Amino acid sequence: MTILAIESSCDETAAAVIKDGKILSTIIASQAKMHAKFGGVVPEVAARSHITAIIPTVDLALQQARTKLTDLDYIAVTQGPGLMTSLMVGIDTAKALGAALNIPVIPVNHLEAHIYANFTGSSPTPPQRGGARTPLPFREMLTTSPAVGNWLGEGHKVFPSLILIVSGGHTLLVEMKKHSVYRILGETVDDAAGEAFDKTAKMLKLGYPGGPMISKLAQTGNPQAFDFPRPMINSGNFEFSFSGLKTAVLYTVQGLARSSKKLDIRTKQNLAASLQTAIVDVLISKLEKAILRYKPKTIMLGGGVAANSLLRERFKLLSTKYKLHASIPAFEFCTDNAAMIGLAAYYRLKNNNAHFGKNFSADPNLHLK
Ligand code: KG4
Ligand code: ZN
Repeated sequence: MTILAIESSCDETAAAVIKDGKILSTIIASQAKMHAKFGGVVPEVAARSHITAIIPTVDLALQQARTKLTDLDYIAVTQGPGLMTSLMVGIDTAKALGAALNIPVIPVNHLEAHIYANFTGSSPTPPQRGGARTPLPFREMLTTSPAVGNWLGEGHKVFPSLILIVSGGHTLLVEMKKHSVYRILGETVDDAAGEAFDKTAKMLKLGYPGGPMISKLAQTGNPQAFDFPRPMINSGNFEFSFSGLKTAVLYTVQGLARSSKKLDIRTKQNLAASLQTAIVDVLISKLEKAILRYKPKTIMLGGGVAANSLLRERFKLLSTKYKLHASIPAFEFCTDNAAMIGLAAYYRLKNNNAHFGKNFSADPNLHLK
């Protein structure tokens, strides 16, 4: 079963080829540099850039997988959530290819796909290098850093699993009872965890995306330097809130600007470390409470913020404390990519609950159900 997967929900144009659940290729054309000068994703710029990048990205993914269009059985594409005009580029491309090849197109929920970034298997086959190159800023993946704890396929019972999905647009704690069966235990009532990283980075003029920059600065900062709030840490439920934290950082930065103290590198390091610790404290505390209440067999992490070293470390500690098998995607599968889209489709096909749609359209607010 060979699937071509396409992802274009935000600012990465990505394509991948998945054969029988194995990743043959995964290509990303990143727009990060284009958006960096605006300090965030500009939807019009993103959509236009997807249009120019999508065909070369698909071509390269097929080429690296040594797969012809006629070898494909399915096309999987992100339906949502995401930016409307960005999603539309991927969906229109998928539908056009599906119609031309007369094969089904499978709409995939991007949040479900972040979960399936944990299902890459322990040793994806490296792609064949070489072939024609285009001037687009492609990233070819599968270099590859190992996923942490890859219990899948090793005979461990996976479900029920608790999953923390933390990305630029979402923060969710999900119970997964079996493939495609989810219960949302809680989500953010305002900003996502990734947004708190990105907005703080913007305040500190560190560029976009902010998560990796904050994470790097935090390595040499003092996490106790600033006493930032841990919003809703004791709320008694599994909801999150990060907008108050962002405001607390803003007031601190404004206060520092008014005082004679400069926003020097040391202060930025301390702000980054204090913010990162506040965010991770909340995420880990809620996950721990959910472990105690729902007694999962495994825990998983997903989404761009899962690339954060402190979060990965604390997540591993939690799994050791409760003797749970834990999985964290390899770094390159945390942030947006198409391999996870193809894997989500693959597992739905395998379990006979894939959606096939000729008439589906982009859904910027698609929920995980
Ligand atoms: O999953 P993703 O690529 O896109 C969405 O679906 O939103 O997540 C992007 C988010 C951004 O907010 C980015 O700042 C954050 O993931 N991120 C990180 C790190 N790497 C990416 N946040 C914290 N630490 C990191 N190392
Ligand atoms: Zn994402």
